[in-house]
Amino acid sequence: MRALRLSKRVTAVDARVASPSADGGARFSKRLTEEWLFRATLYNSLRAWVAARRSLWLRVPRVLEADPRELRIDYERLDGWTPLRNVIRDRAFERHSTDALRRTFWTIGAALEELHRHTRRIHGDFDFDNILVKPSEGKVAFIDFTPPVYARFRDYNRADPYLDIATFILVVRAKYPPHRLYLALRSRLRAFALAFMEGYFRADPAKYDASALERALGEVLERTYLGESFAGRYLRRTRLFRIDDLMPGT
Ligand SMILES: Nc1ncnc2c1ncn2[C@@H]1O[C@H](COP(=O)(O)OP(=O)(O)OP(=O)(O)O)[C@@H](O)[C@H]1O
Ligand SMILES: [Mg+2]
Repeated sequence: MRALRLSKRVTAVDARVASPSADGGARFSKRLTEEWLFRATLYNSLRAWVAARRSLWLRVPRVLEADPRELRIDYERLDGWTPLRNVIRDRAFERHSTDALRRTFWTIGAALEELHRHTRRIHGDFDFDNILVKPSEGKVAFIDFTPPVYARFRDYNRADPYLDIATFILVVRAKYPPHRLYLALRSRLRAFALAFMEGYFRADPAKYDASALERALGEVLERTYLGESFAGRYLRRTRLFRIDDLMPGT
């Protein structure tokens, strides 16, 4: 029933020819370069939005309009939300308290699990630029459901959920430019990565499978630019890449 309503909605949105945004910039417009990217992004965004409506922790911007000729999708713009990148790449985590940050990371884990469960898809590019946070909100927002450049297959998002988990762990613990690698050594990062795992496995910590995470980390490092980066190569040999301290419930 739900799936039927979703597909009707896509047709309705799709068939409309959009006019330029007239409402003073309350939208965020995204132009895709290829037809298949436009379609995949639109379907993924609508699917995720439906999932978010049933979620406690997840928010996804609504699709306001989609123009198949211009390959453009207009989203509700989330004002006052910050990409998680800004928080992580700031030396003092933008002065948020440890408790607030731990809660935010827990919520990101819980929201990711909801996305996986409700859509039966993975995000596929679960990077810190694609997660928006707002300290006063109980939810976190996920954006950018466009297939990433390193996606080899059109059904890239039907893959192992541990790939999203691994991408996030790598980004939090190791994605720093060489001249700012000291940021990776902040001890709070370990606590935040663990809070994320606790959020994801909140219903059943025993479901966590360390070897699945290990495999997914290897795959992400092999398949994406993260392994090529200086930090990827350097940090791989250090204790930062240990995952035995990421077991939820410890
Ligand atoms: N609905 C939205 N509301 C507010 N900001 C948004 C919204 N969607 C995207 N953004 C901002 O724009 C940035 C880029 O958007 P998005 O991640 O969808 O595109 P992208 O494919 O990663 O593009 P690029 O690689 O060119 O940045 C995001 O990191 C975020 O900061
Ligand atoms: Mg993005």
